[in-house]
Amino acid sequence: MGSRRILILLAIGVSALLIVGAAAAMAQHEDAANEVDEDEFTHDTEDLPVEPPTDQSHPGYEYIEQDGDTEEKIELGEQLYFDPRISETGTISCNTCHNVMEGGDDSRPIAMGVHGETGPVASPTVWNSGFHHTQFWDGRADTLAEQAEGPIVADVEMGMPDHEAALDRVRGVDDYVESYEEVYGDEVDDPDDLEELISLENTVDAIAAYERTLNTPNSPYDQYVQGDEDALTEQQLDGMETFQDLGCQSCHSGPMFSGQWDEPESGEGVYQPHPTFEDNPQCEEYIEEYDLMDNPGRMGVTDDESDEFMYKVPTLRNVEHTAPYMHTGQVPDLEEAVRVMSACSLDQDPSDEEVEDVTAFLTSLTGEYPEQEMPQLPNPSGESMVPMDAGMDFEDMEEEGDDAENGDDVDEGDSIPGMSLGAAVLALALVSAAALVGYSRRLNE
Ligand code: HEC
Ligand code: HEC
Repeated sequence: MGSRRILILLAIGVSALLIVGAAAAMAQHEDAANEVDEDEFTHDTEDLPVEPPTDQSHPGYEYIEQDGDTEEKIELGEQLYFDPRISETGTISCNTCHNVMEGGDDSRPIAMGVHGETGPVASPTVWNSGFHHTQFWDGRADTLAEQAEGPIVADVEMGMPDHEAALDRVRGVDDYVESYEEVYGDEVDDPDDLEELISLENTVDAIAAYERTLNTPNSPYDQYVQGDEDALTEQQLDGMETFQDLGCQSCHSGPMFSGQWDEPESGEGVYQPHPTFEDNPQCEEYIEEYDLMDNPGRMGVTDDESDEFMYKVPTLRNVEHTAPYMHTGQVPDLEEAVRVMSACSLDQDPSDEEVEDVTAFLTSLTGEYPEQEMPQLPNPSGESMVPMDAGMDFEDMEEEGDDAENGDDVDEGDSIPGMSLGAAVLALALVSAAALVGYSRRLNE
């Protein structure tokens, strides 16, 4: 009896503590949000111990928010962003290659899409991508919405045969139809016409609205620019000086450290050659080792020779979380990226200590990632949004058959003659379900 009462008291005590803790955490969260709201971006930084390369802090979501960016549209865009079922095999979503649970990329040298197909370049981060003048390493899309049209049908990404095929999958799900009606119903002539309602234009518009929310303000650097002298370590301050002495900010300027900041999505783009000093002996080695001159750069878009090896200056925000580096994704870590840039873009040869300092400074550009909640995706009842035979015409890979490698990757196609992969997976699922039910029964007994 006595111990029971103690237990109850203990439970009450713990609950109370939890509630107080949660309230305090929420209050703190709100404070942080307010700080960002009140930020006026440009600061009087002359009194700071080291003058920062740019006196503008991260401008925050308000700066790139567009008129129609309602909560409902952002939520729809988030669902589409996370939905792998609009890829050919039902396995690849935007988030596969631009993982917003981490640095907004895929940590791979070059991206891998459906059927393990790889593309020619590295996935850039989507964090803060709403601030870019232009999209892609070579700037071939002006806006986020225009950019989002590409991956759905790219062979090496989501691999759908055409946009209509992807949209048809979305049109087949009642809850998606409802969301589109809510967001775009007033803008189309006939909301009952699903082809008009669930159009490519509306789809990429929603995805772009979600991407615009992917902002990371309030980094230690931003706090410093706003006057908090203690926000950076000694080493980061040294690194900030070296960053400027070397001349990095001549390209990586502005609050995004990407050579631009106003008029986002104007399509103008800030392009710079890489490498600039290809005759620097150190750079020559890097070019060889990291394939730096294998792609034509912006010339691939414009056909203009003067655009050869020109690239959009990438943002350096959160750069510590987006290794490997450069468009080839061949430069393995941040210190090496600093060395490559110094030699190839500035004809400089910084000491190890200077490289470490600049790297430390770059880590001060890591902002606060907003808390993400996994979206619940709309589901058709009792059927699969992805056809059972999706991707089945892709047999070459199976034939190559490295079946020995992976025990659970049972090669049903070969081992169970006459049985399709889909049916085999279904059978496997049924058997596992039956086994689980049996197991839980036994547990209950
Ligand atoms: C298979 C991996 C993959 C998938 C899936 C994928 N992307 Fe990408 N994404 C890339 C690669 C690689 C690039 C760079 C391509 C280039 O510059 O030529 C890129 C570029 C981008 C950029 C430009 C960023 C910048 O800094 O220029 C944005 C934004 C983006 N993708 C968003 C999306 C969205 C939205 C989706 C889903 C509709 C998506 N991506 C699906 C790999 C992928
Ligand atoms: C002449 C303009 C220019 C200068 C100067 C310059 N950069 Fe860059 N930076 C670029 C371009 C362009 C790229 C993309 C190159 C590529 O992908 O091949 C880049 C890429 C990077 C990357 C890799 C980003 C990523 O996401 O992969 C880092 C890190 C970087 N620069 C840091 C620096 C540092 C540190 C300095 C000073 C030592 C510097 N840059 C000087 C133009 C410049």
